[in-house]
Amino acid sequence: MGTIFNERVIEDFMLMCKKGVDQGWHERNGGNLSYRMTKDDVEYCARFFKKHPGEWVEMPVSANNLKGEFFIVTGSGKFLENVNTEPQNNIAIVEINQTGNSYRIVWGLDQGGKPTSEFPTHFLTHSARKMATDGDNRVIYHAHTPYVVALTNVLPLESELFTRMLWKSATECCLFCPGGVGVVPWMVPGSTEIAECTSDLLSKYDAAIWAFHGAFVTGKDFDSAFGLMQTIEKSAMVATITLAANAGKMPNQTITDDQLREMAKAYNIRLNEDFLK
Ligand code: 13P
Ligand code: ZN
Repeated sequence: MGTIFNERVIEDFMLMCKKGVDQGWHERNGGNLSYRMTKDDVEYCARFFKKHPGEWVEMPVSANNLKGEFFIVTGSGKFLENVNTEPQNNIAIVEINQTGNSYRIVWGLDQGGKPTSEFPTHFLTHSARKMATDGDNRVIYHAHTPYVVALTNVLPLESELFTRMLWKSATECCLFCPGGVGVVPWMVPGSTEIAECTSDLLSKYDAAIWAFHGAFVTGKDFDSAFGLMQTIEKSAMVATITLAANAGKMPNQTITDDQLREMAKAYNIRLNEDFLK
């Protein structure tokens, strides 16, 4: 019968947690990850589900298009660095009810616990991305990326300014983040307010920057979501170093808007024109 860990999707989920930890993005229980399972994933994993699933837990948010879906998700307060050694105690599979407003744990968190405190943001964002990408996007990832956070301490918290700074700090950033980033002002983590604001921005942008906190990205699979987080953080690192080397002033020698348009044409991507001048 094998184990649930023979299932590729569980392996990939665990690997992504390790990759994020290796980057230094997940101090303590910082950051979280969720994946909307396919029918095939659920079919394979169902044989390992608990005989007695957890109680239904009502959420402060709901989504019609996520009724009956299953998610793999990291646990609240759990350290991502422990996911690979004890997955059954640090991650869970949750089922959403037929009203789209409650979840129950059907596998994992064997020593107790609940899905990440940011599950409202993951949930509403899954709903928005499922709609925006016709079901293509399945991964939502939150990390405490230090250079992104550093930039929020010094730049005005505006989506256009952040997107342009990131696009212009490294040539290939625009290729993988063509929709740009939305900036969420400081809000209490885990709140319904941050969930609504983030999912709203992520229905139009590829990523959300959380002021003084980190970033949220989406992707069709684990590699694309992780790669997007890395791309944004690398650009933020270059931007931070550039500002420091330029006495804190915005640099005036950068990739131009026309060069961004040239990139878009050469690589056949649609850059968000709202952010170009
Ligand atoms: P959780 O441990 O509940 O996932 O919270 C971590 C975090 O990064 C909150 O923003
Ligand atoms: Zn966080």
